[in-house]
Amino acid sequence: MQAIFDSISTQLDLSQGEVRRLFHGRGHCFPGYEQLIIDLLPPLVIIRLFEEHPVELLEQLDQFFQQLDDAVKPDALVVQHRYRREDSVELRWNNGTVDPEQLLQVRELGLKYNVRPLKNQNSGLFLDMREGRRWVRQNSQGKNILNLFAYTCAFSVAAIAGGASRVVNLDMSRGALSTGRDNHRINQLPTDQVKFLGHDLFRSWGRLKREGPYDLVIVDPPSFQRGSFVASDDYRKVLRRLPELTMAGGQVLLCLNSPALGSDFLLQLVDDCCPELRYCERITHPADFPDRDPEQALKVLLFQKTG
Ligand SMILES: C[S@@+](CC[C@H](N)C(=O)[O-])C[C@H]1O[C@@H](n2cnc3c(N)ncnc32)[C@H](O)[C@@H]1O
Repeated sequence: MQAIFDSISTQLDLSQGEVRRLFHGRGHCFPGYEQLIIDLLPPLVIIRLFEEHPVELLEQLDQFFQQLDDAVKPDALVVQHRYRREDSVELRWNNGTVDPEQLLQVRELGLKYNVRPLKNQNSGLFLDMREGRRWVRQNSQGKNILNLFAYTCAFSVAAIAGGASRVVNLDMSRGALSTGRDNHRINQLPTDQVKFLGHDLFRSWGRLKREGPYDLVIVDPPSFQRGSFVASDDYRKVLRRLPELTMAGGQVLLCLNSPALGSDFLLQLVDDCCPELRYCERITHPADFPDRDPEQALKVLLFQKTG
């Protein structure tokens, strides 16, 4: 238990009022707590359990958060029992300033994002992609960027904030893109040079090519979304199209969040499908997502197109 409290304290100190994972059991670095994660979405803390745990665990966590200094003490503590079909949300306490069921505006690296903290699968912002967004923001100046599988356009927000001249976002979920539009607005970022294309990628190559070529292409697909994208089969179809979409000397950021498929999978696919891409580096994994095996965690690999 002390290891959990230490992790929470360290991450709270580093959070500076921004979103952060306070405890990441899923990475198998804390034996016995693989089914526990804790997220800070200021002013909320959400404990997410993927299997039933002894009630004492929640009591101890509750006490821990209760006794924190006012400066870092959350306004509300919510438990999400992800293994339950009913009564999955348990409000431990709430001082009344925030409704955990409603849309919440959070900050990351100084930018704002709309999230729905209790939405079961995707709350609107993938916290483990923070360093990817930092990299994009730092490397976007003046660039024409293609953001594939854009979801709520967090990469686009980071890119425009970093001075990108244009971003084309594509995602089959129009609802997610609508949140993406809002995410630009709440940061007062101009959207006249931002496109939001709500289409299936595999029916959009012609349109994407007409909007290109791009200085940077971001590919961040799901690992498995039935009927839409299965990384083990479909990633190669995307890679085959990259050479015609990417400018000579342009960059490509390939992301993959499947525990079953490591960096080797992507490197081999690139070799097979677009040898014009030269591997440059793996973007740092955020420290608040420790993983016993980094190859099982999120992979964000940077390539450059030669010639
Ligand atoms: C892992 S999320 C992407 C996360 C996003 N890049 C971010 O920065 O937050 C996967 C997204 O892929 C989209 N998607 C899945 N299959 C697709 C397809 N065939 N064409 C277009 N979008 C697709 C889903 O709608 C979902 O929003």
